[in-house]
Amino acid sequence: MTDSAPFERTLVTSALPYANGHIHLGHIAGAYLPADIYVRYKRLKGEKVLYVGGSDEYGVPITLTALKEGVSPREVIDRYHAANADAFRRLGISYDIYGRTSWDLHVDTTQAFFRKLHDGGYVHAEEMELWYSEQSDRYLPDRYVKGTCPKCGYTDANGDECESCGAQYAPQALVEPRANIPGDDSRPILRKSRHWFLDLPRFADRLRAYLDGHPEWRDNARGIAYSWVNDLRARCITRDTDWGVPIPLDDPEAAAKRIYVWFDAPIGYVTNTRQWGIDVCGDASAWELWWKDPTTRMVHFIGKDNVPFHAVIFPAMLMGQEDYILADQVPANEYLNVFNRATGQAEKGSKSRGNMISVRWALEQFPADVIRYYLCAIAPESKDSAFDWDDFMHRYNGELCDVVGNFVHRSLTMTMKNFDGRVPEAPVFDAEDQAMLDAIPAQVDAVAEALEGFRFRQALERFIDLGRKANVYFDAKQPWVTRKTDLERTGTTLHVCCQVVKALCHAMIPFLPDGASTLSRILGVDLPQGGPDGGPDGWNAAKAPLPAGSPLGTPEVLFPKLDRDRIAELAEAHLRGEAF
Ligand code: 2FM
Ligand code: ZN
Repeated sequence: MTDSAPFERTLVTSALPYANGHIHLGHIAGAYLPADIYVRYKRLKGEKVLYVGGSDEYGVPITLTALKEGVSPREVIDRYHAANADAFRRLGISYDIYGRTSWDLHVDTTQAFFRKLHDGGYVHAEEMELWYSEQSDRYLPDRYVKGTCPKCGYTDANGDECESCGAQYAPQALVEPRANIPGDDSRPILRKSRHWFLDLPRFADRLRAYLDGHPEWRDNARGIAYSWVNDLRARCITRDTDWGVPIPLDDPEAAAKRIYVWFDAPIGYVTNTRQWGIDVCGDASAWELWWKDPTTRMVHFIGKDNVPFHAVIFPAMLMGQEDYILADQVPANEYLNVFNRATGQAEKGSKSRGNMISVRWALEQFPADVIRYYLCAIAPESKDSAFDWDDFMHRYNGELCDVVGNFVHRSLTMTMKNFDGRVPEAPVFDAEDQAMLDAIPAQVDAVAEALEGFRFRQALERFIDLGRKANVYFDAKQPWVTRKTDLERTGTTLHVCCQVVKALCHAMIPFLPDGASTLSRILGVDLPQGGPDGGPDGWNAAKAPLPAGSPLGTPEVLFPKLDRDRIAELAEAHLRGEAF
């Protein structure tokens, strides 16, 4: 979008996790915490912002889990949708709606997308050869078949892609295929089946122009998207399954098949916006402003593996609808690995290795802010990073507790004791006072600049830097010494400190919402909630002074320190595979 047409509102989405397992910290560091930080910041600024998420409930990941557990797909999605919605809520991921692709409304949205593409000539049918198990009497889409990767020789490759080398291939290319169904590892045969394809090459010029228009995207998203656009092929968007959105065609062969999960999943963002409009605005057409008005800025937060779908395929699907906007940013994070103390190596998080840390387990051990702090501090923005227990303890204790928490606590307790719990008067500022006061707007702006640029790690560092500067100031002024000799000087110092505490309170909201809400209560500061309708600018209000005489509440420890022995115990439990 050009400067002549500024955005008036922001629609933020986070990838819809499959409802076939508990979400883990890798998910959070990838697509959820950065989105939530961004949304909370925008809300605080008073901008109009809507944050949409939900569960991805169709497709092979769900039916395979159901088969392996011996339960119905419905049971699987109901269980994990509820568990994940609860985990997100407790971690403070502040969706405006957390929807479900199993909703009836989603059938309507998905079928409308499909029909429009079909009517526009972007979808065609083709006969193809697919693996079929005679023993189970069914086709074997995607992960229902395993075999040897035609590219690298990995022997546990999936039907359509290899987890080891990342190759994607036609199912027939799989070497030595075998069914991947409990009780059936028979050798499948190739059988013909008719399917529907999205004609991606027809969007090639528009997709290239779209990517050319976004040189500001991170290298990872641009690189992956261009490599797809340079090699576009028609993609099959239907599957031989009964678990998915029905194909809206009057064709007997379509009746036994369903729309492919990767076609319907991103449309889930639209469905969930529609449902939000109905539930919250009481207006069935409220969603259109967010999806069709060119003054809406859309941002998709995703993990790197989701780039092709969000930067190429979904944009093509939207182009085919003709009246939808396209994403303006697609911040894609790399992977969060796990540091293994026993081997001294960072390794990929994997269910089979048992090294993943679920959000629900982490929340049983720590307050949400503790988890949020560390995951933002090590966010895998430009390269993979690793969760490491020692680093976790040192960074949280050494940065958040020792720098910000300690400064806030000592400032407030000294003010409480020496100035009757009120912000002291400050008749005259000396050069050091003034430098500290000047650092507030400079630092708040620096945090904002990083957040606007989707550099969340840097934003958090700049927030901590304000705490660092404040500690240097506090130590230079020595209010614990001056209070015995010069109460006016001490008052001025603590007045300045109270201003920094207030700024820290505003600036911590996006990262550490629980700490911010405790601190705002102590300071008696009203923090605006903001939302889809916008509101007052509470971000820049961080720079406005807290007047002398303002009463303060009783100080509390905002960020309790982590205990070394306890962390060692948890690290051991993690190593035993008990952190899920
Ligand atoms: O990779 C995944 O977990 C997918 N369920 C993400 C879907 S994102 C969007 F398209 F819904
Ligand atoms: Zn391979």
